[in-house]
Amino acid sequence: MNHLYTIHDRLVSRAEKEQRLGQRGQVIWFYGLSGSGKSTIAAALERELHEAGRFTKVLDGDNIRSGLNANLGFSDDDRRENIRRIAEVAKLFADTGLITLVSFITPKRELRALAREVLGETDLTLVYVKASFETCQQRDPKGLYAKVAAGQVKQFTGKDSGFEEPTADDTNIVIDTEAQDLPACVAQAQTLLRG
Ligand code: PPS
Repeated sequence: MNHLYTIHDRLVSRAEKEQRLGQRGQVIWFYGLSGSGKSTIAAALERELHEAGRFTKVLDGDNIRSGLNANLGFSDDDRRENIRRIAEVAKLFADTGLITLVSFITPKRELRALAREVLGETDLTLVYVKASFETCQQRDPKGLYAKVAAGQVKQFTGKDSGFEEPTADDTNIVIDTEAQDLPACVAQAQTLLRG
């Protein structure tokens, strides 16, 4: 088909969208064990940002693994593909000027590096939501750890699938959910917003 114009010349730029929204598109990526508090912090932060007139999007296991990534499980390869797709989707949102809050276990350094590779340093803040396996097991908000103990869940992060603690170069900040309550965690997360 012949076009008389190049479609992408007509696209509205990211800068124009950011100007319209009055904010800078970016991704805050919360990672850590199941039950560490990453989704709770992301949801509370989104609520605060929304009340303050910001435009946001949350991506987490519930809305991604039940839809876009419904074909993926918890093998190393599937987790990698999960994170790759999430990073690409988060990039689309950030390019639209949205403050995008991502919460996935992201268990390996290689996966954090992949998120950085896709999103770049300027758009991405990596946040380790820290709580020990034992603490998460005690919290067990979804009853998942009980199922793991009963042998009903395989490839579980921190048990028979590894979780690599962060190093200085794959984390911008640590939020310790054992050491502080939710409002303090959210306040800490709020300081991470760029622009
Ligand atoms: S990953 O490693 O980043 O690809 O994992 P993620 O997409 O964040 O999915 C984690 C949620 O899936 C549920 N779940 C499991 N987690 C870990 N290991 C196994 N085997 C597993 N099976 C199901 C669990 O509810 C995780 O949700 P969160 O919010 O982390 O508790």
